[in-house]
Amino acid sequence: MASEKDPALEIQELAERINYLNYQYYQNSISEVPDYEFDMMLKRLQDLEERFPELRLPNSPTLRVGGTVTKNFGTVYHKSPMLSLSNTYSEEDLREFDNRVRKAIGENVEYVCEQKFDGVAISLTYENGLFVQGATRGDGTRGDNITANVRTIRDVPLQVHGKDYPEAFEVRGEVFLPLSVFEQLNAEREEAGEQLLANPRNAASGTLKQQDSAIVAGRKLGCYSYSFHCDPNPFDSHSESLQAIQKWGFKVSDTWRKCSSVEEVLAYINEWEMRRFELPIATDGIVVKVNSFALQEELGYTSKSPRWAIAYKYAALSAATKLTGIQYQVGRTGAVTPVALLEPVLLAGTIVKRASVHNANQIKLLDLRLGDTVFVEKGGEIIPKITGVDFSKRPADSEPIIYPAHCPACGTPLVRSEGEAQFYCPNDEGCPPQIKAKLEHFISRKAMNIDGLGPETIEQLYSTGLVHNVADLYDLTFDQLANLERMGEKSANNILRSLEKSRSVAYDRVLFALGIRFVGSTVARKLAEQLPDITALQGATYEELIAINEIGDRIANSIIAYFNDPDNVLVIERLKAAGLRFEADKTAPAIESDRLSGKTFVISGVFESMSREELQQLILSHGGKVVNSISAKLSYLVAGDKMGPAKLEKASKLNIPILSESEFLEIIR
Ligand code: IVH
Repeated sequence: MASEKDPALEIQELAERINYLNYQYYQNSISEVPDYEFDMMLKRLQDLEERFPELRLPNSPTLRVGGTVTKNFGTVYHKSPMLSLSNTYSEEDLREFDNRVRKAIGENVEYVCEQKFDGVAISLTYENGLFVQGATRGDGTRGDNITANVRTIRDVPLQVHGKDYPEAFEVRGEVFLPLSVFEQLNAEREEAGEQLLANPRNAASGTLKQQDSAIVAGRKLGCYSYSFHCDPNPFDSHSESLQAIQKWGFKVSDTWRKCSSVEEVLAYINEWEMRRFELPIATDGIVVKVNSFALQEELGYTSKSPRWAIAYKYAALSAATKLTGIQYQVGRTGAVTPVALLEPVLLAGTIVKRASVHNANQIKLLDLRLGDTVFVEKGGEIIPKITGVDFSKRPADSEPIIYPAHCPACGTPLVRSEGEAQFYCPNDEGCPPQIKAKLEHFISRKAMNIDGLGPETIEQLYSTGLVHNVADLYDLTFDQLANLERMGEKSANNILRSLEKSRSVAYDRVLFALGIRFVGSTVARKLAEQLPDITALQGATYEELIAINEIGDRIANSIIAYFNDPDNVLVIERLKAAGLRFEADKTAPAIESDRLSGKTFVISGVFESMSREELQQLILSHGGKVVNSISAKLSYLVAGDKMGPAKLEKASKLNIPILSESEFLEIIR
């Protein structure tokens, strides 16, 4: 065996390399190495740090992964108070602000306009280039020490880049949950039959206060930095400081602009009134700041806010329209969700016909009646919601909404568990929308990923009596499929091939696909990590389940109830017999040969018989290496369909052998 490298040196080299790759990835959107290689480096570093905890560096990238559990957050005092901004909603107020500023400091004032991000304010402290403390705003004077959680946020550099930074400084900014992550999180919650998160700000704030930083790491929070604090301050202006901190590795939104008059400020405000909906995060206005630090000092502060800045808030986009009906949707888990049907109305550039109402309580709270004129609002949440009723317009014959006592689809009496806002249809074996939604969930991309089967085919398979539960899918024959209306032989074959392929889908996805209430994809992954196969999961006691990180009372009870139902156990037995995977992968790809040892590959395009990831695993399992960019040293380019012309040209220029999918398979055979 080769002698081991000096662990201190290896730890330092790995940390530097990974920090550099993270910087390239998150600041410059460049991935220099394949994910697998990156993960292996990170894993190696984690292993070393576990063996030699005293050698862990304060800027170690493994801290991003989280895992620190804080019982109660400590309190920290802010060096200077974290103030708020005074708000305005009108052009008039804004002109008044400009007059005040110019009167105090002279005619020529330069402003910086920025987005007002709707997240959670954060203070980040650095010493000798290292991130040492992250704190919430709290009451403005003191906040919670949430350093371990902040370390997991990729947009917060653990080590400042470059050399020209002061010994000690603070950066403040806004932590947020990107809208796409918020929507995905809610889609998963909906699928798992859980209560939806109200808006991205609450979700971000709740996440930051998690006691276990591994949960924070999983949520993909972002952070836009918007101010720099240092005494003495090496910069003359706010704009210079923004450019500098961006160079140092902080994420600064590039939406800011210097404006040399109030007219230019107003133009910025008008421009962003609609453009803000294109941003990846929720915003609720514009912040206008005097650019010069010297002038900021001259203007000073009130006890609550600086006199050199103001927030211009856009009025919430709202419209009035008529409530024409309520539709009750029955989801996969039997949860009944009311959806308001509206007379179409234009709101923030889109026509709105439906709005979310969440649950029965909300109908009561808003005192909604059919025929009412209601206010619909679109904030950062994207999905429009009903915020109130215009009672002056209530027609004399308006009808109260009577929440159904029976399932609108199958007539079974609805139930509501104690403490829950949502009603459920308990008839999971016989309620058609539940059965079809379960099948659709099972075949979906994130679950078993069965191509060729869509909602229409599921409808056909269900209504013809061929498929009643997910196990029935694996009993389908070519003749049964080909005889369906509008189904050709080719499509039938496609479906059978996809079903065949799904037999190798990883265990955690199979678990997710089963559709156990409250078991979304993240929970399924956790379960598969902790309990190696379905037998272990089925046999796990309540205590064993809740001992798993992130598994609480509700999920544990739901899993136990699932396995207590003999119909579910039978379905699992049939799926096992059909060859689906009910065991977790133990290790990274097994080494099958060293045929490709010393060879490097670039993969480009799409492939017929496997995904890019599968191809990558195949190369690794035969001792080869996958790299991202084409250089003269590259051994092969494996080219699939639709590969980029630039890559092809570069490879040809450098005389790199280009392999088709089948030529590659020939080599490893
Ligand atoms: S500067 C004196 N810039 O708004 C406060 N704040 O009401 C100076 N905020 O708690 C803050 N985007 O969390 C500043 N571009 C931005 C901002 C911003 C959002 C938040 C911040 C603060 C609140 C003030």
